Amino acid sequence: MKNNEIRDINLAPSGRQKIEWVKNNMPLLRGLEEEYGASKPFLGVKISLSVHLEAKTAYLCEVLASAGADMSVTGSNVLSTQDDVAAGLAAAGMKVFAYHNASAEEYAGHIEMTLAHKPNIIIDDGGDLVGMLHGKRPDLAENVLGGCEETTTGIIRLKAMEREGLLKFPMVAVNDADCKHLFDNRYGTGQSVWDSIMHNTNLIVASKTVVVAGYGWCSRGIAMRAAALGASVIVTEISPVKAIEARMDGFAVMPMAEAAPLGDIFVTATGCAHTITTAHMLTMKHGAILCNAGHFNVELDMDDLESIAAEKRESRQNIMGYLLPNGRRIHVIAEGRLVNIAASNGHPAEIMDMSFAVQFLSALYILRNHGKLEKRVIDVSAEIDDLVARRTLAARGIRIDVLTSEQEKYLNSWRV
Ligand code: NAI
Repeated sequence: MKNNEIRDINLAPSGRQKIEWVKNNMPLLRGLEEEYGASKPFLGVKISLSVHLEAKTAYLCEVLASAGADMSVTGSNVLSTQDDVAAGLAAAGMKVFAYHNASAEEYAGHIEMTLAHKPNIIIDDGGDLVGMLHGKRPDLAENVLGGCEETTTGIIRLKAMEREGLLKFPMVAVNDADCKHLFDNRYGTGQSVWDSIMHNTNLIVASKTVVVAGYGWCSRGIAMRAAALGASVIVTEISPVKAIEARMDGFAVMPMAEAAPLGDIFVTATGCAHTITTAHMLTMKHGAILCNAGHFNVELDMDDLESIAAEKRESRQNIMGYLLPNGRRIHVIAEGRLVNIAASNGHPAEIMDMSFAVQFLSALYILRNHGKLEKRVIDVSAEIDDLVARRTLAARGIRIDVLTSEQEKYLNSWRV
């Protein structure tokens, strides 16, 4: 088995610098590195990981390796892999199979090479490792004790596999931990999506009409931050409850067909295919900007847009302009892939510190409990959520109240 499939090892110094920067801002992972670097609970354990390969992920890999794990690493999206970070990890002796902008076949090859490691534990983001182990290469699954899934879309896929009785090993739903989705999906996506849109367009958000598709954990954060930047926000939803919530939070709510002609900037985060179709695009204003924050590049109907466009021309780095048959031009950031990761640096380090602390502790949970776990989608234990929350507060120097025994008695009693 080869050790590396990366763009250029000479890029390592820049990658090492990025990893060092995030390490200084990820106190929970630093604490885990210190704690488990000595006892090495993962000694002799092979872990294969497929997560957006940028500096925060690289540091998670290093913390797992320092706890004894034998790591094999790839990205989870061809545009989010940062070649210098991949080189930085390889230079530190890790097996890395990823480069930026790989073709679909090359990407599939990288997933396969990462799994040739014959892992005991997998850490997945969007389900590509699980997909390979249940599809083309079931032979590589024989040593897998279990795994962790990072994102909403991956968990939806896992639950579909579980319903059909196909899942070969337990998978922990890391995304569904409170210390993951309440912060990562909402505040992480909320900030990093706007960071990317503003950096890539260099335009003002204040005074614009922003259409946010969905009002789930990610889209709530995106809408909240758009409003804070001074935009008028319209939300589209399919869930009546979420639609009421968006309205109560002060946003206009309407179907996409009505929002399309009104918006200046469109952001999707539904996890659903074709949230914005070409029928919508044809009613948009000249100059409208579109992007997606959902896991897969299916939310904007890019195939249909490519087929109807009279002309396609790069408008700016990371932005493609499409001339529509009606003479209007619309702009799509990062090919409709996750805008905050494919065209920027992803979530802030402090947010990924929490998500990756949950990942590390969930991997440890699998190692210690795999014999007792069913081949299903498993919830993160309440103890892990509590521990990560407490350590996050401690890292920020925040103290909270503790119940007195009298209060505990009151809360546990049914007598008034
Ligand atoms: P969620 O399930 O909390 O929210 C999705 C919302 O979209 C739901 O309220 C649903 O009713 C709504 N929806 C579904 N189809 C729709 C449609 N056609 N039109 C309008 N609304 C629709 O999911 P969450 O956690 O917000 O994740 C959304 C997507 O973002 C997933 O693909 C997830 O994997 C991804 N994600 C991306 C991140 C990033 O950094 N860009 C971070 C975390 C998750």
